[in-house]
Amino acid sequence: MDRILVVDTINKAGETVSLSGWIDTIRAHGKIVFIDLRDRSGIIQLVGTKDMLGAVHCEDVIKLDGIVKKRPDKMVNPNIKTGTVEIEVTKLVVLNKSKELPLPIDTDGYEVDESIRLKYRYLDLRRSRMARNIRLRSDTTLYIRNWLNKEGFVEIETPILTKTTPEGARDFIVPSRLQKGKFYALPQSPQQYKQLLMVSGFEKYFQIVRCFRDEDPRKDRAYGEFTQLDMEMSFVTQNDIMELTERLFTDLVKKLFPQKHITQTPWPRIPHKESVAKYGNDKPDLRKNKNDPNELAFAWIIDFPLFNKQTKEDFYHGSGKAEFAPSHHMFTAPHPDDIALLDTEPLKVRGLQHDLSLNGFEVGGGSIRIHQPEIQSKVFDLIGFTNTQKSEFKHMLEAFTFGVPPHGGIAPGIDRFLMAALGEKSVREVIAFPASSGGTISVMDAPSEVTNGQLSELGISVSSQHAKK
Ligand code: AMO
Repeated sequence: MDRILVVDTINKAGETVSLSGWIDTIRAHGKIVFIDLRDRSGIIQLVGTKDMLGAVHCEDVIKLDGIVKKRPDKMVNPNIKTGTVEIEVTKLVVLNKSKELPLPIDTDGYEVDESIRLKYRYLDLRRSRMARNIRLRSDTTLYIRNWLNKEGFVEIETPILTKTTPEGARDFIVPSRLQKGKFYALPQSPQQYKQLLMVSGFEKYFQIVRCFRDEDPRKDRAYGEFTQLDMEMSFVTQNDIMELTERLFTDLVKKLFPQKHITQTPWPRIPHKESVAKYGNDKPDLRKNKNDPNELAFAWIIDFPLFNKQTKEDFYHGSGKAEFAPSHHMFTAPHPDDIALLDTEPLKVRGLQHDLSLNGFEVGGGSIRIHQPEIQSKVFDLIGFTNTQKSEFKHMLEAFTFGVPPHGGIAPGIDRFLMAALGEKSVREVIAFPASSGGTISVMDAPSEVTNGQLSELGISVSSQHAKK
């Protein structure tokens, strides 16, 4: 008999069916045993004698045949989808036994030490809250892909083994075997590639893409890698970008988070200065009722300064001697009315940057880009780029000499959006295998040492201080 899913038993009263899954719970009442069987579609109650069901344990994997029985009205369980039926087991095979799990999975899991949850993440993902989050993540990216496809966007993959893409964090570097002594950098975002794709003429690009940044983790930032919905468009204004993003996320929330309501539409657009003066930050939490788990308050922050005063942390952007660091990134266009100020008072220049905030988190950032080589060059000077550093970006300046359309874009963070939309306290709650705060992927125990053979093939040696004992 072919296996069917638990959820497909609902309208099969009287039929014999075959099911497979995990044993969720077991309750014995004298000679009768009740088991909740779990598969990817849900849970169903199995009933059988002690002889038939007595030897199994929670989390064993079983396969069974049984007859679907309608439950009497007073036995209906309204808490599960299959609550109107149960299965009278006629045959049971244990496909694999399970040891006792090292952590409970029948709770929301917040009470369990996170290091245990991450070590046994594959079990932690059995808990219904985590399984729901990961499924919603899949639904979200699928919805976005279909939505953008209908709007004429093309999804294009860009290299992961690439060159430094300065977004303000430290790069991860990967040694090259074929060109010893040289290194790839993992992209902090596909910023330069997506701009080059505008030179190619695609006009509407997106990619659901992994970005890599070596920065200390926080609750709204996983260590090492995260996912962006990266978008870029040609011949657009800031208003076009904000409107499109707003339509996409409004439709997405309606479809996939129907219990949620958006505080204010159209989303407020708040100048950076006003946001800082009024709320003390540039990602204000505009919920009317912060205790309402279903409220989503989106807001745009606009009119950012193009530059901030450079701090120590910005030094790897430039030579370390310049006064200015880009507020967003070095490809953001100055406001056309402020171009002259680049030569006189750079800190007064407004940038065409737009950030998206949601319930107090920055969930997206983007801008209209510089598309004139001479302005790009001026910005490089202002952030203190040496000639060598400038030459690292000569491909951009050269590309801009071959008919570049005016362009701009945005990159909402998928992890941050889901965290805020689901009311989770950390991005790790919406990522299947996140790194721990110490930068370890505990399930696989990464990072790990490599063999001397691997190192010598790469022409690399580890300093004695860090070498394997
Ligand atoms: P930015 O650096 O502002 O812009 O990033 C855009 C969005 O990506 C998400 N994000 C993160 N999410 C989780 N963990 C992190 N460490 C992390 N860092 C960033 C946030 C953020 O708003 N290339 C530009 C985009 C553009 O200009 O189009 C960029 O990467 O949600």
